[in-house]
Amino acid sequence: MPVAIVLGGQWGDEGKGKITDALAASADVVIRPNGSTNAGHTVVTDDGVFKLHVIPSGVLYPHCTCVIGAGVAVSPPDLLREIATLRERHSRLGQLYLSDRAHVIMPYHPLLDAYEEQRRGAAGIGTTLRGNGPAFTDKVARRGIRVADLLPGAEAFLRQKLEILLPEKNTLFVHLYGREPIDLEELLREARYWGEQLAPYVIAAEVFVQDAIAAGKRVIVEAAQGTMLDLDYGTYPYVTSSPPTAAGACQGAGIAPTQVDRVVGVFKAYTTRVGAGPFPTELHDDIGQLLRERGREYGTTTGRPRRVGWFDAVAARYTARLNGMTEAALTKLDMLDPLPEIRICTGYRLGNQLLSAPPARIDLYETIEPVYETLPGWRSDTSHAASFSELPLEARRYVERIEELIGVPITMIGIGPARRQIVWRHAEALA
Ligand code: IMP
Repeated sequence: MPVAIVLGGQWGDEGKGKITDALAASADVVIRPNGSTNAGHTVVTDDGVFKLHVIPSGVLYPHCTCVIGAGVAVSPPDLLREIATLRERHSRLGQLYLSDRAHVIMPYHPLLDAYEEQRRGAAGIGTTLRGNGPAFTDKVARRGIRVADLLPGAEAFLRQKLEILLPEKNTLFVHLYGREPIDLEELLREARYWGEQLAPYVIAAEVFVQDAIAAGKRVIVEAAQGTMLDLDYGTYPYVTSSPPTAAGACQGAGIAPTQVDRVVGVFKAYTTRVGAGPFPTELHDDIGQLLRERGREYGTTTGRPRRVGWFDAVAARYTARLNGMTEAALTKLDMLDPLPEIRICTGYRLGNQLLSAPPARIDLYETIEPVYETLPGWRSDTSHAASFSELPLEARRYVERIEELIGVPITMIGIGPARRQIVWRHAEALA
């Protein structure tokens, strides 16, 4: 095998952690290619519930080497805390590496994130306030600080960079936001401490990953967020700032498209979105509330209640094609167990037009009406099914209809949080 990418086909929170964890049972290397502390992946093992942010989900297997790739933005104190918490709770963790090219979320980034959100007021994006957007803005503006710049020996270089950068940030803090400036010497002291603490993990990740592929290791790239939050193809500007797509996963992990064998798109059996922005199938009624409570739809990173809606096959087909998905995983099917009927959105009606793909113009979403197909529910407990044939007929029909609409075989179905609660179809873990 080879290389499999696991990515989100909706607006994030699809359950990628669970699917990666299942596939990682037979993987050697798991890489995170994008995102930052904004991401939250929940994995449930026999040892309990683990909430991961930048560390790939494979870390819970001692045999897995986990790599935080160049496309990630890392907050050193958050990463060090995440490592310490994991070590406290789980003694047999896999090896962890961090790319020397990954960007650093500096202390001014979360502040800028918060102040900008405040300035936008009602037009706010609803970011996770972790500094993700400002860190990637600095990366693209070619003034970012990278992990390599924090390491022992790079102090003079880092000072030089910050001497240019910090006055610009402080001008914004003082004159635009009316806040206190950041002290250069204090920042350099903090950075040196982070560099010393992180140094044992830092490697040229893209070289490590290429060597692993050349040696025939089984590699998973676990992308964060979902394609509908992509800067180019998502509901811009209500998107995140690093690419959650298969192409972005290749870029962030240091893997070529020609090296990828499997692209596993993860979809929740309904849709959720956290933060602001268009959501055509959003439910504002009791069913939405029921799914939110049953599905514990509260953000892993921020604890915010997630917005909940019916499965959006327009968005799902769009992301399936953009990512070249070779298969899909459908998670949380069991959450739909009590519903008498279930809807799937098969088109967006805009005036007398029927759209088959999400439009670029964000203002159009205000007038879009989802076109629904209604399927009968199964009203029984699916959480113990050991195979696809053990699922109720209506549940199988629901899965098959989604499969038809998105044009990708659904090979894994999540029916509960535990590791064993996955129904496998056609495919197994990495062969
Ligand atoms: P940012 O990534 O913190 O800048 O937030 C931008 C948008 O992406 C907001 O709507 C966030 O709620 C959303 N977002 C970021 N990370 C995640 C995630 O891991 N799951 C779901 N939504 C996310």
